[in-house]
Amino acid sequence: MTTQQTPAIHVHGLKKSYKELRVLRGVDFTVARGSIFALLGSNGAGKTTVVKILSTLLKADTGTARVHGFDVATQAADVRESISLTGQFAAVDEILSGRENLVLVARLRHLKDPGAIADELLARFSLTEAGGRKVATYSGGMRRRLDIAMSLIGNPPIIFLDEPTTGLDPQARIEVWQAVKELAAQGTTVLLTTQYLDEAEQLADRVAILHEGRIIVNGTLAELKQLLPPAKVEYVEKQPTLEDVFLTLVGTKA
Ligand SMILES: Nc1ncnc2c1ncn2[C@@H]1O[C@H](COP(=O)(O)OP(=O)(O)OP(=O)(O)O)[C@@H](O)[C@H]1O
Ligand SMILES: [Mg+2]
Repeated sequence: MTTQQTPAIHVHGLKKSYKELRVLRGVDFTVARGSIFALLGSNGAGKTTVVKILSTLLKADTGTARVHGFDVATQAADVRESISLTGQFAAVDEILSGRENLVLVARLRHLKDPGAIADELLARFSLTEAGGRKVATYSGGMRRRLDIAMSLIGNPPIIFLDEPTTGLDPQARIEVWQAVKELAAQGTTVLLTTQYLDEAEQLADRVAILHEGRIIVNGTLAELKQLLPPAKVEYVEKQPTLEDVFLTLVGTKA
């Protein structure tokens, strides 16, 4: 099989225990190239564990995982060159400005013209104005966008976003969602983990639910919705959600 035909990510029979705690009990899934795949699960379901195994930070007990056609256990260096990882906790340097953070990473990756790369990413993530300020002064949403921007330096074909919007307010979440959609539109494969159903609904081409160590469902949103019977129509006015109200009042929703 050529690299072109292989899926971006292929996971088969993955198991992982921490001592007697069996976190992954046989996880299987495939992520198509250029798609957004959401791994959904409650706290402690094992989402970060899956992401760590796929990004070669952690070894599985058994099973196989291939990322960009490379085996995570035997071709770890090739996997690392094909991915970037934005962890659950942001990795930006507070003392540097946003632009300096980006330039630093571009230098570390030996890229030509780090300044131009930084400016292009600042513009793409609506951080041009804030670019010269220390990250210590950024809001949570700005940090998260900077963190994602940093992970794109060098154009990795696959990116892992572990809970990209946890702790962000609704407006900042929408900004991050927009950034993720743009990534996928440019052909990057995105695997994201989330505890938020609406996030998966907004972003993902496919959604998989990790529960008690296994993927219990995996499908498109439409397929998942078909698992439930349609709701009965009730004769009540549709009330706006709290999120609708919040977004209308803060002025981000028409
Ligand atoms: N290094 C470790 N040693 C022991 N137990 C661990 C370790 N890492 C994770 N665990 C346990 O494994 C389980 C899965 O953890 P994991 O971080 O993968 O979950 P998660 O789905 O990412 O949760 P969250 O939504 O809270 O981020 C949890 O019960 C956690 O306490
Ligand atoms: Mg986690």
